[in-house]
Amino acid sequence: MSDLVINELTKAFGETIAVNDLCLKFEEGEAVVLLGPSGCGKTTLLKLIAGFLQPDNGHIAIGDDIISTPHEVIPPDRRQMSMVFQSYAIWPHKTVFQNVAYGLEVRKINKSDIKKRVMNALSMVQLDGLEGRYSTELSGGQQQRVAVARAIVVEPSLLLLDEPLSNLDANLRIEMRSELSDLHKRLGITFVYVTHDQAEAMVLGDRIVLMNYGRMVQEGTPEVFYQTPKNRFAASFIGTSNIFSGKLENGSSGGTIRVRTDFGPITVAKQVENAASSADEVYFCVRPEWVKFHTEAPGTDINVYKVRILKRQYYGKYIQYTVDLKGKEIIVEATDEWDIPLEAEVNLEFPPERCVCLENN
Ligand SMILES: Nc1ncnc2c1ncn2[C@@H]1O[C@H](COP(=O)(O)OP(=O)(O)OP(=O)(O)O)[C@@H](O)[C@H]1O
Ligand SMILES: [Mg+2]
Repeated sequence: MSDLVINELTKAFGETIAVNDLCLKFEEGEAVVLLGPSGCGKTTLLKLIAGFLQPDNGHIAIGDDIISTPHEVIPPDRRQMSMVFQSYAIWPHKTVFQNVAYGLEVRKINKSDIKKRVMNALSMVQLDGLEGRYSTELSGGQQQRVAVARAIVVEPSLLLLDEPLSNLDANLRIEMRSELSDLHKRLGITFVYVTHDQAEAMVLGDRIVLMNYGRMVQEGTPEVFYQTPKNRFAASFIGTSNIFSGKLENGSSGGTIRVRTDFGPITVAKQVENAASSADEVYFCVRPEWVKFHTEAPGTDINVYKVRILKRQYYGKYIQYTVDLKGKEIIVEATDEWDIPLEAEVNLEFPPERCVCLENN
């Protein structure tokens, strides 16, 4: 399948604009994750792509072929796409084999080909040997695999997955997300994967599209999202962030700016795409593991402030501290070589290149 192009797509339900003037492109073979809070339009966008909904404005195209407009929608079964629903929607009164075979039967494929393809799809999702079971005799993870097998058996060019792991417990979720990632590599088809779990988005997405209120907030690789979130919403939605605001000081030049915060001046490296606007209110963020403790005098006095330890939580791989900096609480994550007691006073450094300037919105 060629690239899937979404152009100025809008879909409203009464007063609610679920998808708002969205432009996106999914490249062939890519795994794209749609991420965003509840109600931001993720499922609506998937249904528009799959052909279950008609847009109010804009269009969807595959290569040069327009497949959805406000006037005409090519139906789902003529789109070479499959969708895995959050609820799995597998039939309890059919066996695993019958569930997976259904899509091929309605396409009038001959019996021996159906058998071959179903067994192959079940093997892809590691359900060999379970074809005779009823779904009521399967675990949640196995049911989820049946739903995936049923979607891939029709050999779609694009697989749409709507929060397929949300009903699973934490451990199974981690296992299944890695299996889905392997499956994507094996099949080589385009995956569009919806989640509101940021860890899942980071692991599964070649690219993440972050949405809010039906619009795209930011798109990019997981690394881009983590290293250079675009605004406060992106910085707090993906990973933990300490977000600061202040006034832009005159005389900022070169690759850095100076921001006057409530606790004092901070030098912020100017990221190319996230350069602070000229507005005098400036926001920047620092991830908890990017700040550095110093128990002795640090080699620099740029961005170094005395803080007091308020809270200490041991996570094994790291210790998370909540520290007080002149009334502002900051989250710091440090390895256990920094075992600092409560109430202790230490120096905290905000390396300028780790202070990420945010857009002012
Ligand atoms: N059939 C419908 N009728 C009326 N409003 C709808 C309908 N479907 C969705 N909406 C509204 O459109 C907005 C987007 O819904 P959508 O289901 O796309 O969100 P979502 O991002 O998938 O959320 P979640 O993470 O909770 O699944 C919501 O405000 C929702 O209430
Ligand atoms: Mg949804």
